[in-house]
Amino acid sequence: MTENNRRARILATGSYVPEFALTNEALCRMVDTSDEWIRERTGIRERRINPNLSNREMASTAAKRALEMSGLSPLDLDMIICSTITNDNYTPSLACYVQGDLGASNAFAFDINAGCSGFVYAMENASAFISSSRPNAKAVNHVLIVCSENLSRITDYTDRSSCVLFGDGAGAVIVGADEVGVLASYMRADGKGANSIVAPALTAATVTEDGRVETAPPVEKPGLVMNGREVYRFAVRAVPEAFEAGLKLAGLTADQLDYAILHQANLRIINAVIDRLGLDPAKVPFTIDRYGNTSSACIPVLLDEMNRSGKLKRGDKLAIAGFGSGLTYGVIVTEW
Ligand code: UT7
Repeated sequence: MTENNRRARILATGSYVPEFALTNEALCRMVDTSDEWIRERTGIRERRINPNLSNREMASTAAKRALEMSGLSPLDLDMIICSTITNDNYTPSLACYVQGDLGASNAFAFDINAGCSGFVYAMENASAFISSSRPNAKAVNHVLIVCSENLSRITDYTDRSSCVLFGDGAGAVIVGADEVGVLASYMRADGKGANSIVAPALTAATVTEDGRVETAPPVEKPGLVMNGREVYRFAVRAVPEAFEAGLKLAGLTADQLDYAILHQANLRIINAVIDRLGLDPAKVPFTIDRYGNTSSACIPVLLDEMNRSGKLKRGDKLAIAGFGSGLTYGVIVTEW
């Protein structure tokens, strides 16, 4: 490996999913829905819900499992990127908690907020830092990415159109410098659609112009609000666009891929992308039936399951597609 052919390769994976499974039958007792509607429209049978742990605890558990698989010491980590839309606090970042929990004292650490595209956005960052030679700056050889989401904390369980979709979980990967790894990427955002998925911030107080402190009025509708149809239309347009562009940049065709890894938002979206791109369904694994949509955690949790069950082989070619709130989207094409 020379300075000019350093690529970012996924060296190890880890994940954490809570034990408690919220079934469709249980949701039917909470909102006006049915198991049949949920399965037909989304492919989801159950999702895992985390009643007890903080996001930090989920994230650090997944991170420790990935680190253990890598055989590296926490001190080998140069950078930690966490992706979350459900941080326990406004500040500090989740990444700083994970850094402290691991004792990764050589790493700098920060969060990104890119919704369900968080994993591909984080991979793009890891890849850019690993591949670039930056004089007079820290060399980045090992990056920990953790995507951890406590979506049940922001889900509105009176809104049947969104509460059936979401679950909790965390996935992590260790990325290292190698001659093989990321081949191409295509990263985008469409901020004009930003209001399609919104979870409003909570404000403690405001100071009026005449210097009085007022308790801020409660937000009109706490929790996540989503225009599902708009996001659906965006996803079936944006994902094939990013996929084709990413593959072209990598010099690959869809049939040369070993796996297409898609964000797990809805089985219908996954099947629509399979149809649009003429993919072999056997090469498009999914977890949505068991875990629902865990935002940015979906992809690394799926990768961890595939990795631990021996499905992923060195040299396999993967196209990994994220899409979600922002509206963000992107594809990373990589060799395993
Ligand atoms: O990770 C990225 C973030 N999110 C997404 O990717 C979500 C993308 N969107 C979707 O997955 C789908 O749009 C949903 C699953 C959210 C909704 O499915 P849909 O086929 O687009 O349904 P719809 O919104 O067009 O609603 C169809 C009907 C409506 O009834 P009417 O107006 O036709 O009488 C809804 O009120 O289905 C009704 N409906 C439900 N019925 C039973 C909506 N949610 C439910 C429900 N159970 N849970």
